[in-house]
Formats: sequence, C-alpha cells, structure tokens
Amino acid sequence: MAKRVDHVGILVSNLDEAIKLYEDCLGVVVDKIETVSEQGVRAAILSLAEGAKLELLEPLPGSNLARVLEKRGEGLHHITFEVDDVDKELSRLSELVELIDKKPRQGLEGLVAFLHPKSLRGVLIELCQRI
Ligand code: CO
Repeated sequence: MAKRVDHVGILVSNLDEAIKLYEDCLGVVVDKIETVSEQGVRAAILSLAEGAKLELLEPLPGSNLARVLEKRGEGLHHITFEVDDVDKELSRLSELVELIDKKPRQGLEGLVAFLHPKSLRGVLIELCQRI
C-alpha cells in the first residue's frame, strides 16, 4: 500500500521557463535537473520546505511524451505514491488495475512503475520506491 504522495508530475514545453515560473510564483526550489533519455524527458525535481515535491517534465523531441504534449498540451501529468516495494505492489495490483509497467524501472529518484489512467478514474499513477 502507498505510504504518502511523493510528488506531482507536470508536463511543460520549456523546462527552464517553467522552473523560473514555479520558483517565482510558489517559492519552490530546484533539487535536481536531469535528462533521462530512455524515458524521453528532461526533468526537474522541485521542493518546498515542508517536503512536498513537484516534477516538471519537458519531453525530448520525438519521444512518446512529446506526442502527449502535442495532443493534450501542458498540465498535470501524474501523481506519484511512495511504496516500500514496487515489485510487490505490481503483483498485488495486477489483479486490480491495468499496469503500464509490468516490472519496475529506474526513475529519477528510485524504482518506479506506472499504472494505467483508465483503471484509475483518468489519473496516471506512478509508484516509487526510494533506493
Ligand atoms: Co514522477
């Protein structure tokens, strides 16, 4: 079962502009910026003093995420829940919802896996296990 909401993922067309906007408007601070080529994304993790986090995602050209941005535009992309063991959660959840990832993969800050939004009332859910 999920322990807490880890972060909210937001799809943006320009990462640097989005970072500046969120910093200026909401006072979030950049923890890290990284390109994860296998996921087709340049991403930034931003946090607030109390521990809440945002993940801003700028798709790399030609990626799946770039097509999502083209189709749906910028906005809320996913909500991430922290779990103790992603692999264990995936086997439990495979009975209940449609999985996008059958196995955990390496994310920005640990092992992650996505659950299909059509099983979860239209919300893309990411599970994350910190390592
Ligand atoms: Co995420």
